[in-house]
Amino acid sequence: MSDVAKRNAAEAALKLVEPGMILGLGTGSTAAIFVKLLAEKVKAGLSITGTPTSEATDKLARSLGIRIVSPDELSRIDLTIDGADEFDPKLNLIKGGGAALLREKIIAEASDRMVVITDPTKQVQVLGKFPLPVEINSFGSELTRRRIHTRLDEIGLGDAKSSWRMATAESLLHTDGGHLILDLACGQIPDVAGLGALLDDLPGVVEHGLFIGYASQVIVGEDAGARIVGIS
Ligand code: A5P
Repeated sequence: MSDVAKRNAAEAALKLVEPGMILGLGTGSTAAIFVKLLAEKVKAGLSITGTPTSEATDKLARSLGIRIVSPDELSRIDLTIDGADEFDPKLNLIKGGGAALLREKIIAEASDRMVVITDPTKQVQVLGKFPLPVEINSFGSELTRRRIHTRLDEIGLGDAKSSWRMATAESLLHTDGGHLILDLACGQIPDVAGLGALLDDLPGVVEHGLFIGYASQVIVGEDAGARIVGIS
């Protein structure tokens, strides 16, 4: 995705922001462009409050002068703007390519609206081309991995492959919450709700990157502008 397309998506999302809003601020390269554009509006006098979905976004937003509060101070959020790795016609998402899926889902769930900013390459008929990130507690992580594969086998996804996300060639990546990320290459996921429920049912799974029913709109940035995709 070109930076122009990302910027076009972020600019379109900025039009949804109203004075006084509490905004969930997403994570990833597209969300970072949104945060930078938002900061320009704040400098020009817009009054909003942001709450971040990652340490990286927290740092970026504060460095640009956006008023940030911890989610601990909130009961709800007006609007969250975040990126995604894939979206389907029902606006179900795969997220977590930036390893922030747990915090992103906590913020999305508490938001009156979640709007996704993305590009055409992320639009799919069936989720699953992008390996599904799953956040795993480090206690018994290999056992949890094997339990996931056993359960996947039971629902016909026995060919799925998984790999631990690495921070460097030698060391595992740890999320902001100190957990591991297992990237699950299932191929096309015929039943996203079923897979989500299966993963939710495993105690070692902290959270998974299937965002089912959270997004109300996806803004697809293109080189010449942006188009809005609603739930079909
Ligand atoms: C972060 O964990 C992800 O959910 C991101 O929102 C997703 O990876 C999209 O990132 P880009 O905007 O960089 O493609």
